[in-house]
Amino acid sequence: MTNREDHKRLAALLEKRFGRLDILVNNAGIARDGEDFSKPFNTTSTVTEAALRETFDTNFFAVVALTQTLLPLIRKAPAGRIVNLSSVLGSLTLHSDPKSPIYDKKAFAYDASKTALNAFSVHLAAELRDTRIKVNSAHPGWVKTELGGDAAPLEVSEGGKTSVQLATLPDDGPTGGYFHLGDALPW
Ligand SMILES: NC(=O)c1ccc[n+]([C@@H]2O[C@H](COP(=O)([O-])OP(=O)(O)OC[C@H]3O[C@@H](n4cnc5c(N)ncnc54)[C@H](OP(=O)(O)O)[C@@H]3O)[C@@H](O)[C@H]2O)c1
Repeated sequence: MTNREDHKRLAALLEKRFGRLDILVNNAGIARDGEDFSKPFNTTSTVTEAALRETFDTNFFAVVALTQTLLPLIRKAPAGRIVNLSSVLGSLTLHSDPKSPIYDKKAFAYDASKTALNAFSVHLAAELRDTRIKVNSAHPGWVKTELGGDAAPLEVSEGGKTSVQLATLPDDGPTGGYFHLGDALPW
């Protein structure tokens, strides 16, 4: 994700083999706040600039760059779909609400990178509104992965469902949204 030459190589490979790209799921992501998401914590006053930059490099800048590089191929697809793997932890509305279940789960670098990614989804969807391409942010749920940890309730097969739904939306499906299993999340 963070190697721009790889982005170009990937675009060239897809162009040669398929001539277009139907679905882009920007799934790769990192969490570098160095805490356990299952416990209440808040890194806002302690996170380093290096951790912020590393997190944004992968979760935001690389996604924007890769998507820009692949967009000409997605424009050639009959119904392009772009899914950005965000997180409920990117929701400013929920982080601002003391009654929200995520209020005490604040990891500043990770959360801010996902909020920025949500902005990318909204802005790109608006730019592409007169095309057949749909762009949405996905929250997969809390999933048992390296990032999610063993305490997570969802298996990987469950965690993949929102991405698949958004990657296979019908022509009258939403664009510029933020979803978990079909439910809209507050920004
Ligand atoms: N798990 C959850 O509960 C949860 C909740 C909300 C959102 N999400 C989001 O869902 C997405 C997938 O997360 P996950 O739980 O599957 O995390 P994960 O188990 O840590 O897997 C992350 C994946 O991203 C890849 N990756 C990281 N940096 C990369 C880079 N620079 N270039 C290429 N690949 C890179 C990793 O590849 P390597 O293994 O090769 O490093 C790995 O395959 C992430 O965007 C995450 O933020 C997850």
